Amino acid sequence: MRLKNVYGISILLLVLNVPLMYSEKSGSYVGATQCEPCHSDISAGYQTTRHAKAIDSLKKSGQENLPACVKCHVTGFEQDGGFIDYDLTPEMAGVQCEACHGPGSNHIADPTSDMIKNGGPELCRQCHTEKQDPKFNFEEKVKYVHGTPLQ
Ligand code: HEC
Ligand code: HEC
Ligand code: HEC
Ligand code: HEC
Repeated sequence: MRLKNVYGISILLLVLNVPLMYSEKSGSYVGATQCEPCHSDISAGYQTTRHAKAIDSLKKSGQENLPACVKCHVTGFEQDGGFIDYDLTPEMAGVQCEACHGPGSNHIADPTSDMIKNGGPELCRQCHTEKQDPKFNFEEKVKYVHGTPLQ
C-alpha cells in the first residue's frame, strides 16, 4: 500500500513536471511575426539584416534541410516550437529574435516577464564560432543586430 502510493506520486510528478518545465521556465518559440505588434521599429530594422535572410544562403545550394547547416541558420532548431525542417516550419527559418532573446511565449503572455536582453559574446559564438567566423568582433557586430546601429 505504501509502496503503491510512492509510485503513484512519482508518476503524477513526472506527468505534471515535464510540461511545467517548458511552459513556466523556458516557454516555447513563437516566431518573429509575433513580436512585431509591440516592437515594430526593431522588427522593421531586423528585416534588413542578413540574419533575417539566413535561410536563403542555404536554399541557394539546396541545403535548407541539412541539419549540419540549419542549426546555425534557423531559430530554435529541434526545440519546442522551433524549426523542424523547411517544409514543416518555414516560419522558423532564419536567425530570428528568439535565437538571441530566447523563446518568447511567456513574454508575449506577460510582457513584464524576462527575455534575454544581451547574452554577450558567448551567445553569438554558438554560431559565429572560431571555425565559421574567425574574425568575429562582438563589440563591433552587436551594433547591427537590429539593422541600424543601436543608440
Ligand atoms: C504584447 C506586447 C509585446 C509582445 C508581443 C512582445 N513584447 Fe517584448 N516587450 C514588451 C514590453 C512592454 C517590454 C518592456 C517590458 C519591461 O520593461 O518590463 C518588452 C521588452 C522586451 C525586451 C527587453 C527585455 C528587458 O529585460 O529589458 C526584449 C529583448 C523583448 N521584449 C523581446 C521580445 C521578443 C523577442 C518578442 C517576440 C517573441 C516580444 N518581445 C514580443 C512587449 C511585448
Ligand atoms: C543561431 C545562430 C546565430 C546566432 C546566435 C548569431 N548569429 Fe550572427 N549570423 C548567423 C548566420 C548564419 C549569419 C549569416 C547569414 C547569411 O548571410 O546567410 C550571421 C550573420 C551575422 C552578421 C552579418 C555578417 C557580418 O559578419 O557582418 C552580423 C553583423 C552578425 N551575424 C552578428 C551577430 C551577433 C552580434 C550575434 C550575437 C548577439 C549573433 N550574430 C548571433 C548566425 C547566428
Ligand atoms: C556553427 C554555425 C554554422 C554552421 C554549422 C553553418 N553556418 Fe553558414 N554561416 C554561419 C555564420 C556565423 C555565417 C556568417 C559569418 C560569415 O559570413 O562567415 C555564415 C554564413 C554562411 C553563408 C554566407 C556566406 C557569404 O559570405 O555570403 C553561406 C552561403 C553559408 N553560411 C552556408 C552554410 C552551409 C551550406 C552550411 C552547411 C554545410 C553552413 N553554412 C553551416 C554559421 C554557420
Ligand atoms: C543577433 C541577435 C539578435 C537578434 C536576431 C535580435 N536581437 Fe534584440 N537585442 C540583441 C542584443 C545583443 C540586445 C542588447 C543590445 C544592447 O544592450 O545594446 C538586444 C536588445 C533588444 C531589446 C531591448 C532594446 C533596448 O533598447 O533595451 C529589444 C526590445 C529587442 N532586442 C527585441 C528584438 C526583436 C523584437 C527582435 C526581432 C525582430 C530582435 N530583438 C532580434 C540581439 C538580437
